[in-house]
Amino acid sequence: MEISNKNIIITGGANGIGLETAKALRLQQANVIILDIDEQSLEKLKNENSEFSCYKCDITDPEDISKTLKKIIQAHNQIDVLINNAGAVKDSPLIKIFGQIEKHDIDLFERIIKINLFSVFLMTREIAAHMFEKRIKGVIVNVSSVASHGNPGQSAYSAAKAGINALTYTWANELNYLGIRVAAIAPGFTETNIVKSNMNEKLQADIKKKTPLKRMAEPSEIADGILFIIKNDFFHGKILPLDGGLVI
Ligand SMILES: NC(=O)c1ccc[n+]([C@@H]2O[C@H](COP(=O)([O-])OP(=O)(O)OC[C@H]3O[C@@H](n4cnc5c(N)ncnc54)[C@H](O)[C@@H]3O)[C@@H](O)[C@H]2O)c1
Repeated sequence: MEISNKNIIITGGANGIGLETAKALRLQQANVIILDIDEQSLEKLKNENSEFSCYKCDITDPEDISKTLKKIIQAHNQIDVLINNAGAVKDSPLIKIFGQIEKHDIDLFERIIKINLFSVFLMTREIAAHMFEKRIKGVIVNVSSVASHGNPGQSAYSAAKAGINALTYTWANELNYLGIRVAAIAPGFTETNIVKSNMNEKLQADIKKKTPLKRMAEPSEIADGILFIIKNDFFHGKILPLDGGLVI
């Protein structure tokens, strides 16, 4: 798909990989619509006259999504691309075995699944319906992770990302009949808040050592992969790994 003049929604676009992707898309003349829950970062983008359309939206809340998308479609008429990028991590082992045994918190598991997986289902069902109604041959890009292979300490996050892979294959085979392309990207460790707020320095150094390229990705390198998926009309039903050669 040619990117210029397309209306592109990116969830979690106020920071990290999402923000770098938004910038790269804007450079190619896309109309970028950011949905994020982080009011402070959205406000900052507005004050910087960033040329993005910014909407505060909690993408785990069906009502908030429906209200926000109504406003967006009124303002922009049609959506050509959805990038399901928003996500969050909170590490926890299944059981803590030092001292008193502590089991993985149930609410935490549910919260991480909701943010990383349920939100993708909620957003995509709305946008797929919109694309069908308007006969738009659009593109859906899901942001998965190398953690979908199973990452110790990340039960919920790994399960959510494996779920995203399954949804990508499923929707690629459901929506192709409507001319909608669906694919995903699976980044390895990338220099963003998710990593900085969840991993101490030692863990970050260990990851770099384990990665054949001996470093983490820059958010712009992942953005590059997302733009490739949007542009390449033969990329469908596949997950693009972008992980510096890391296998976990
Ligand atoms: N950084 C990494 O190492 C890495 C690796 C693999 C995959 N990923 C994936 O990349 C994506 C982007 O992550 P990032 O690294 O840029 O992290 P980030 O924390 O910089 O950005 C995540 C964004 O999602 C937003 N968000 C969180 N919950 C939300 C909600 N309920 N509603 C709306 N917005 C919400 C946050 O406000 C934030 O702006 C995520 O899906 C993440 O799982 C990241």
